[in-house]
Amino acid sequence: MKKTEDLFIVALKEIKYIWSRNQILSKFVSLPEDLKLDNIKNNQINATTKLASWIESDDASNKKIHKIISSLSFHVKWENGYTEKDVNNNFLNNYGFFELIGPTGHFKTSEMALYVNYLDKNTLYPLHNHEAEELYFIISGQAKFENNNEDYEILTSNKTRFHKSFEPHAITTDNKQLLSFVIWKNKFEKVSKIIK
Ligand SMILES: [Fe+2]
Repeated sequence: MKKTEDLFIVALKEIKYIWSRNQILSKFVSLPEDLKLDNIKNNQINATTKLASWIESDDASNKKIHKIISSLSFHVKWENGYTEKDVNNNFLNNYGFFELIGPTGHFKTSEMALYVNYLDKNTLYPLHNHEAEELYFIISGQAKFENNNEDYEILTSNKTRFHKSFEPHAITTDNKQLLSFVIWKNKFEKVSKIIK
């Protein structure tokens, strides 16, 4: 088995490769050159085992990154971001993210943030917003993305979606899980609020 540190290095290498091939990602924000792996204590939430047991991507082009991210699941610092006051228990059991790159991430930088987001099947991530501009990149699975207007879109592997600063957005999964990168730039203090 590979050492934990090697898993992180392999993940970063693959992310750099994905950036080099995807102009939507690279035009949104550049990956800093000098990313250093920090020693951050890992933890577990419900999403940890769910992602660790979801090994195979449904998309051939993202098989490699999906497998690497899944193998990192027990080595990262998982967060929920919300409390029961804001969201229901089903959401907290089915959602989780970790900051792979960012100000408090496994790879430290103050220039941008890259979170790995996991959402289980049959889950609503209610309408929320934040100051940071945001780009979603779907690694695997499928979900409906909507804002507070009428229009919505179903996103699958390799699709992206941009959210402006403070633009409300909600995500709903049906019979598939969702694994995505969530990239923040400009004002990426970790403050995301549910809109009631
Ligand atoms: Fe967001």
